[in-house]
Amino acid sequence: MDYSTRNVFECGSATIVNYLPEIGLEAAIEEIITGLHARPRRISSKYFYDKKGSKLFENITVLDEYYPSRTEKAILRMLPLGAITDCSKVDIVELGSGDHSKITLFLDKIPVKQMQGVRYFPVDISRPALEASIKELACMFPGLAVQGIIADYIHQMHIVSGERKKLYCFLGSTIGNLDRGDAMQFVRDISDTMNPGDRFLIGFDRVKDVQILENAYNDAQGLTAQFNRNILNVINRLIESDFDTEDFEHRAFYNRAEQRIEMHLEAITDVCVKTPFAAENILIRKGERIHTENSHKFEEKDIQLIGEHAELAVNKIFSDENQWFSLVNYKKIG
Ligand code: AVJ
Repeated sequence: MDYSTRNVFECGSATIVNYLPEIGLEAAIEEIITGLHARPRRISSKYFYDKKGSKLFENITVLDEYYPSRTEKAILRMLPLGAITDCSKVDIVELGSGDHSKITLFLDKIPVKQMQGVRYFPVDISRPALEASIKELACMFPGLAVQGIIADYIHQMHIVSGERKKLYCFLGSTIGNLDRGDAMQFVRDISDTMNPGDRFLIGFDRVKDVQILENAYNDAQGLTAQFNRNILNVINRLIESDFDTEDFEHRAFYNRAEQRIEMHLEAITDVCVKTPFAAENILIRKGERIHTENSHKFEEKDIQLIGEHAELAVNKIFSDENQWFSLVNYKKIG
């Protein structure tokens, strides 16, 4: 990998390389304003994760109703390491690593003696999240070489290359946030950087009983509602607008045709939003919605199709006994 022209930071014994373009903010403002004026109105789910949003999501992951995180972790715990990759001399690249609670379950399985051959590359768009996670990992796994990468993994994964055997990980069913076509394209883009025999481990939330799905996004404590509304605080900071979170109600429901949970914010009164970045105020009528998230659910045929499109063979599918969540081990053909 070539880091010569990029920003490099020290982080304890590890380093972090910044690949984010400096011009990000202007493009973000334009994207947000366009989305707010569009019909249906929309805000990209990538804006959920400021400090408060990340904390709220962390709290959501331990709710009784929110089965995905705990189910995925249970599968990770029982995964036989050898079924995923041969661990001598491997680069593990985790896309959207966020916190390290999932990958540590995996690293725990690697015998100390083999650790010297393993390098871990967490990729995330958030520098604070990467720094916190790398510091803790260095403490937990002193033998592990860690190299953080700040990047938008959807658009920048060509930056990871090299001859070493690779294991990509895209966990947490984050893939569900992408539209189906984009998900296919994304996996294919990653696959294009892989060598024959390299592996890709992806977490998929499965299609299941609608009530279970809807409960997971309408928890009794109202944390998901807070998480959804908090996106307006993030937007207020970015476009200097004056959204009042109290003017909106959380809506989350299963769209059967698209096999996805949709989250929206519904105006409970007429709302007039001002921002210095738009010539006119944004008028949102009572009852109108802003679409904030899609969380797609997958069937086995979707898992197969994504592999076929990307020239990846489905090596093995690991699921819980209810088939609520699956970790899929793909292998690059060739
Ligand atoms: C982090 C994208 C996997 O879609 O379930 C949780 C985000 N949204 N509750 C998901 C989320 C509402 C979560 N992902």
